[in-house]
Amino acid sequence: MSQRVLVTEPIIPSVIDKLESHFQVDVGERGTYNDEEALIEAIPRYEAILPMLSNPITEQVIEAGENLKIIANHAVGYNNIDLEAADKHNVYVANTPGVLTDSCAEFTIGLMLAVSRRFFEAQRYLLNGKFNNWEPLGFLGKELNGSTLGIVGMGRIGTGVARRAKALGMDIQYHNRNRVDKETEQQLDATYCQELKTLIQDSDIISLHCPLTDETHHLIDEGALSLMDDDTILINTSRGPVVEEAALAEALHNETIGGAGLDVFEHEPDVHPRLQDAPNCLLTPHIASASYQTREAIGMLAANAIIGILQNQPASEIPNLIQP
Ligand code: DGY
Repeated sequence: MSQRVLVTEPIIPSVIDKLESHFQVDVGERGTYNDEEALIEAIPRYEAILPMLSNPITEQVIEAGENLKIIANHAVGYNNIDLEAADKHNVYVANTPGVLTDSCAEFTIGLMLAVSRRFFEAQRYLLNGKFNNWEPLGFLGKELNGSTLGIVGMGRIGTGVARRAKALGMDIQYHNRNRVDKETEQQLDATYCQELKTLIQDSDIISLHCPLTDETHHLIDEGALSLMDDDTILINTSRGPVVEEAALAEALHNETIGGAGLDVFEHEPDVHPRLQDAPNCLLTPHIASASYQTREAIGMLAANAIIGILQNQPASEIPNLIQP
């Protein structure tokens, strides 16, 4: 009997076609496998799973996967997967690095522009019939040109944002576990801030690009927010729990910071109610990688890892395996 693959949600059809040319493939309905119980029930039937980052691939799920050989996440982030449990049960784990860099970096710049120039507040004003007269003092914002951008996390996406920001005339500083090489720093005119505190105090716009780990959970908390100026803008396209949402909502309502653009949330898909009516706060539903070409590339990269492992290709030849 042919090997079986579970794709937990509908994804770009060409990816499903590719998997179907090798295996028997089941595609879950939207949201079905956001539930651990549903995964535990289904997983024994499959040799491979292609989950979304909203699917909790916990120790119990992995334990129940008695035939499971590979988990190929449909994302570059993998904080939804218990890596230790996968390792213990000899299950390979793959992610999708590289292919979403441009899409996420572009989207991040879009959020910066939209918040700093107040696109959505302005649209609401217009649609509410308030645009009666051109206003010399209406919707004054901050230009990206000449502003200082503080990037937290200078991996692929952080670097992609820096490249674009430089082209827009921004001054760039960054905070990262490790300093990037001199050549990259020079190309980007980027200054390294060893202390997060310094970066926060000296930036007009702060953009988060770090992975979610124990160290980065609530990295931007009440204390960090209190270091920002009343016109500082915070952008988050990384992971929601990097920001303490309740504290951010408070800072926005009290206008102790200037605005926020958020594509990710602490308890997705829930969004803190106080963020929903906060001033100059733009909220999008985790769509930074949502371009057709990127979502297809993400799917293909995950599918290729599944094909490789189930067809006994040496693991060393599969570039996007995280472990073992
Ligand atoms: C990822 O890949 O981790 C993004 O957050 C979703 O595309």
